Amino acid sequence: MPFAFRDVISILDYSREDLELLFKTTDKIRELLEKKSSLNYLDGKIAALLFLEPSTRTMYSFQTAVYRLGGKALVFTSEQATSLAKGENYADTIRMFDSYSDVIIIRSKYEGTARFAAEIAEKPVINGGDGRHEHPTQAMIDLYTIRYFFGRIDGLTIGILGDLKYARTIASLLYGLTLYNPRKIYLISPGVLRLREEVRKKILERNLPITEVSRLDEVIEELDVLYVTRIQKERYPDPIEYEKVKNLYKITPETLTKVKENFKILHPLPKIDEIDPRIDNTKYAGYFQQAKLGVPLRMALLLLVLGLWR
Ligand code: CP
Repeated sequence: MPFAFRDVISILDYSREDLELLFKTTDKIRELLEKKSSLNYLDGKIAALLFLEPSTRTMYSFQTAVYRLGGKALVFTSEQATSLAKGENYADTIRMFDSYSDVIIIRSKYEGTARFAAEIAEKPVINGGDGRHEHPTQAMIDLYTIRYFFGRIDGLTIGILGDLKYARTIASLLYGLTLYNPRKIYLISPGVLRLREEVRKKILERNLPITEVSRLDEVIEELDVLYVTRIQKERYPDPIEYEKVKNLYKITPETLTKVKENFKILHPLPKIDEIDPRIDNTKYAGYFQQAKLGVPLRMALLLLVLGLWR
């Protein structure tokens, strides 16, 4: 029972076998959803969604997951809507939601928020993204999506392009990939956007076969998957620093003239202008399917975390 009543804070807390259990459960949920759009496993259960930073996919796919499982959700998307606005401290706010709900899903711009909440709450806490640190459930979706398109993760060549410095999805994905045996991981970024040292150290300790390059055209023909992120504007302390990097890369149809037959582009979304919209309707665009798979995967995760799946 690797998930039952445990907090989901970092993907590094899981083994490959744990993730395979999650992925098989997700396969089963997808099968069930084909027959029936709503299941009743969460009848009588309440999830608290505390999103102190904007979100479309994470918040609404968790909310959809709760509803499709027959549960109910308490959702707050702004401090102004709670007594945090009156000066109540964060710890007491967590205590309240812990007493009202069965599971807490939290997003914050501050690193460590989810772990702090987990130390206070008795109910399981799921990290929906904490600053630039981690976004474990997104990495679970990313790995599941690769498995969905290719039937495996082992042996693939994966390029990761974009804001390697601040994208928490990239940190979590790289940590998740350390549980598998990809052939090669290319980290593609201009020098100013390179991976932070603490992330590089962790993946090298786990022997992830990374090669750092600055240009996509050097490696694109080798790739099975290209994972792209936007520049994480909100993490740049200095707007001038952001202005310098905001247009450093863009994928266009011309970029893709020599890619492999089954090549796929993934992106955690939102995308801004780093992928030309003409790519959206090509066979290479895997990102909308990736976002769609977020619902069954988060349904599976909720069931496992709440000990409701046997
Ligand atoms: N992938 C992701 O975290 O998207 P949102 O910010 O819309 O939740």
